[in-house]
Amino acid sequence: MGERSNSITRKKFLKLSGGAVGAGLIATSGFSSSTIAQSTDLLHRTIHSTGEKVPAVGLGTALEFGDITANYSKRKNAIKALIREGGKVIDTSPTYSNAEKIVGRALDELGARDKCFLATKISVRGDKKEGIDQSIQSYKDLKTNSFNLLQVHNLRGTKAHLETINALKKEGKVSYTGVTHFRDSQNEDAARVIENNKIDFIQCHYNLLNRSIEQRVLPAAREHGVAVMINVPFARGGLFGPTAGKGLAIPEWAKEFGVDSWGKFFLKFILGHKDITVVIPGTINDYHVVDNIGALRGRLPTEAERKRMVTFINDL
Ligand SMILES: NC(=O)c1ccc[n+]([C@@H]2O[C@H](COP(=O)([O-])OP(=O)(O)OC[C@H]3O[C@@H](n4cnc5c(N)ncnc54)[C@H](OP(=O)(O)O)[C@@H]3O)[C@@H](O)[C@H]2O)c1
Repeated sequence: MGERSNSITRKKFLKLSGGAVGAGLIATSGFSSSTIAQSTDLLHRTIHSTGEKVPAVGLGTALEFGDITANYSKRKNAIKALIREGGKVIDTSPTYSNAEKIVGRALDELGARDKCFLATKISVRGDKKEGIDQSIQSYKDLKTNSFNLLQVHNLRGTKAHLETINALKKEGKVSYTGVTHFRDSQNEDAARVIENNKIDFIQCHYNLLNRSIEQRVLPAAREHGVAVMINVPFARGGLFGPTAGKGLAIPEWAKEFGVDSWGKFFLKFILGHKDITVVIPGTINDYHVVDNIGALRGRLPTEAERKRMVTFINDL
C-alpha cells in the first residue's frame, strides 16, 4: 500500500479539462474542428488489409451502456468525449441490451457518425436468415447505412454469418469483416478461423491477468495480416479492485512511460504488444474515456517493462 490512488475521478477530470464540460463550454451537440483534439499526437495502428489507421484505444459498450432506464446523457457524454479526445472506434452488439439504440441516438444527435469507426456484431445462435434479420435491425438501431466492421459474435454460426458479412461488404454496407470471442477455450477455434477464412479483424481478450492469446491467436493474426481488437482489457473491471480500489500508488518506474492512472497502466501494457491494433475499454463515464484515450500519448513500455508489469500484478 502506498499513497492515495492515481485513478481518475470526475473532479480531476473537470480540472484537466479546465472545467469546460461542467461550465457547458463544450458544445452540447455537434463538433467544430476546435472542439476535437488534434489526434496526430495519439498512437494510431494500421488495419493490415487496407492500410487505414485508427486511434489504438476506443470504447466498448457491453456492460452498463445498454441500460435504457439509466441516464442517457451520461452515455452520450462518453461518446462525445471519445470523439472530442481524438478517439474513433466504438464496439457494440445487438445483445448488449439497448446499447445499439443508445449509440445510434447519440451519434445521430452529435452528428458524429462520420467521425467514428463503428463496429457491431451478428449475435444469433440461429440460422443465416436470423443473422440477416438481426443485422437489418442493427442498421436501423445504429441509424446508419454502413458499418466499419461487422463481426460474428463469439464464433456462433461463423460460416453462415461470415457469408452474410462478406455479401454486405460487396454491397458497400460493411468495410471490414471480423469474428469475436473472449474465452480461452475458443482460442484454438479463433486461430483456425483466421487461418481458413479471409477476415480483416479478430476481436479477443487480453489483459494483465490473461495473456492466453499470445500462444495461438496473435501469431495466426500476424501471419495472416489480421487486425486485432482487444476486449475486456481491464478484466471486466477486475484489475481495478486490488490496485485503484485499494488506493495503491502507481509505481515510480511506470511513470517513466507516462502512466499516471491505473487505467493507463493496464492499457499501455496491452498497447506495448506490437500485434495489437485497437483496445476497446468499456465505460459509461466521460472522465474514464479521457483517461483511456490518454494511454495513446507518450511512449509505450519496453518488453522488459511489460514483464515487470506482469510480475507487479501477479505479486499483488
Ligand atoms: N465476445 C465479445 O465480442 C466481447 C466480449 C467481452 C467484451 N467485448 C467488448 O469489449 C468491451 C470491453 O470489455 P468490458 O466492457 O466487458 O470490460 P473492461 O473494458 O475490461 O472493463 C470495463 C470496466 O472498467 C471500468 N473502467 C473503464 N475505464 C476505466 C478507467 N479509466 N478507470 C477506472 N475504471 C474504468 C468500467 O467502469 P465505468 O463504466 O464505471 O467507467 C467498467 O466497469 C466491451 O464493452 C465490449 O464492447 C466483446
